[in-house]
Amino acid sequence: MDKTLSRIRALQGVLRVPSDRSITVRATLLGAVADGVSRVREPLDSDDTNAALDCLAGLGIAVANLSSMCDPLGLRIPGLGLRGLRAPRETLHCGSSGATMRLLAGLLSGQHFDSTLDGSEQLRRRPMRRVTDPLAVMGAHIDSIDGKAPLAIHAASSLHALDYVMPVASAQVKSSILLAGLYADGPVTVHEPAPTRDHTEIMLRAMGADIRTERNADGSAAVTLTPPTRLRPLDMLVPADISSAAFFLVAAALLPESKLTLVEVGVNETRTGLLDAMRQMGVQIEQRNTRTEAGEPIADLVVHSGELHAIEIGGALVARMIDELPIFAVLATQAHGRTVVRDAQELRVKESNRVEGLVAQLRAMGAQIEATMDGFVINGPTPLLGATVDGLGDHRMAMSLAVAALAAQGDTCITGAECVSKTYPEFWRDLDRVMF
Ligand code: S3P
Repeated sequence: MDKTLSRIRALQGVLRVPSDRSITVRATLLGAVADGVSRVREPLDSDDTNAALDCLAGLGIAVANLSSMCDPLGLRIPGLGLRGLRAPRETLHCGSSGATMRLLAGLLSGQHFDSTLDGSEQLRRRPMRRVTDPLAVMGAHIDSIDGKAPLAIHAASSLHALDYVMPVASAQVKSSILLAGLYADGPVTVHEPAPTRDHTEIMLRAMGADIRTERNADGSAAVTLTPPTRLRPLDMLVPADISSAAFFLVAAALLPESKLTLVEVGVNETRTGLLDAMRQMGVQIEQRNTRTEAGEPIADLVVHSGELHAIEIGGALVARMIDELPIFAVLATQAHGRTVVRDAQELRVKESNRVEGLVAQLRAMGAQIEATMDGFVINGPTPLLGATVDGLGDHRMAMSLAVAALAAQGDTCITGAECVSKTYPEFWRDLDRVMF
């Protein structure tokens, strides 16, 4: 599907973007091994979350597609307990969801049965050694194709305790080890070099597990889980996804007449790097009505645009906005000066190689952007020009290019626009609703 967009004046209105993908995937997987029925209100209904539900169906959890299961009380997950999952008869398909595959690899490593995880061509290209290596140290037996999916996981009677220093800051690796830790014969500790999203820790705590985090001043941390004997079911509301809100936050900042309020957004500190970076660049973001749901902070956000200044970012801040770097790049094209992003090597192994993708697609629109080993450099401001650009099968690239198109002179055609369904199936409709 192609999508053509052109310059608009402003974004106006009140919008609740769809719910958080990371939290929904975790809630469905952890709910499956809870003792009893979990209730998850406002779950995300998208390709990634439906892939997680399909896998659970293969493991004996009576779930249907989210859209048919949604009711005012939310998603109902009949948990089978830590030892209740059933041996799957067929390969479990994770679609293009890296989180589903990596987290399930951990959860399934400690089961008494064999299972195989596979996914789309896109997911088959993504690195899996980052989870299979530490899981093997715990005693898991996983065969892969050169460190990539499909992953054949063999039955294990019990896994061992682990103290693991992660070479890359990855919430998926941390979570995979913690989920395997549910089946370990002693505590598991994961050391992260920079802050990564801590939704798994918050959820496990809400389910009664003994899990502790010791964070250092530089943002690094050690997370320790003592294996529980049981997990309590969840009863929670999933906040709107800040990674989806990000596209509208940046669009409103680029279009100064905008009056947009984004409601019920998850503002967990490990995810709000983009808000901090935007504030440093001169954008005012008001945070209203902050409250907490099942340990996760939620707030309404209002953006007031101002003149944009270039900034240099790296380290913990980049880790806290890793998924927002494509849309941050679009904002940086309109900032005065040289914006530098460091410590973002991980961008090369996301749904697409986002460093090379940003350079190719934003240059086609007139931006001055160069790739570096661990990020990119942008000189601005440069006027953006309409062009034909490619979403590269990557939801966050397609949505970022859509925002660039709203600030560009002339028409922009985004090819492969359907890929937004990974996390935001209603993106084009929502954008249409707030465009002015
Ligand atoms: C995610 C963690 C991040 C993020 C991804 C979702 C998660 O990946 O980029 O979109 O749900 O845990 P890494 O953990 O690989 O950094």
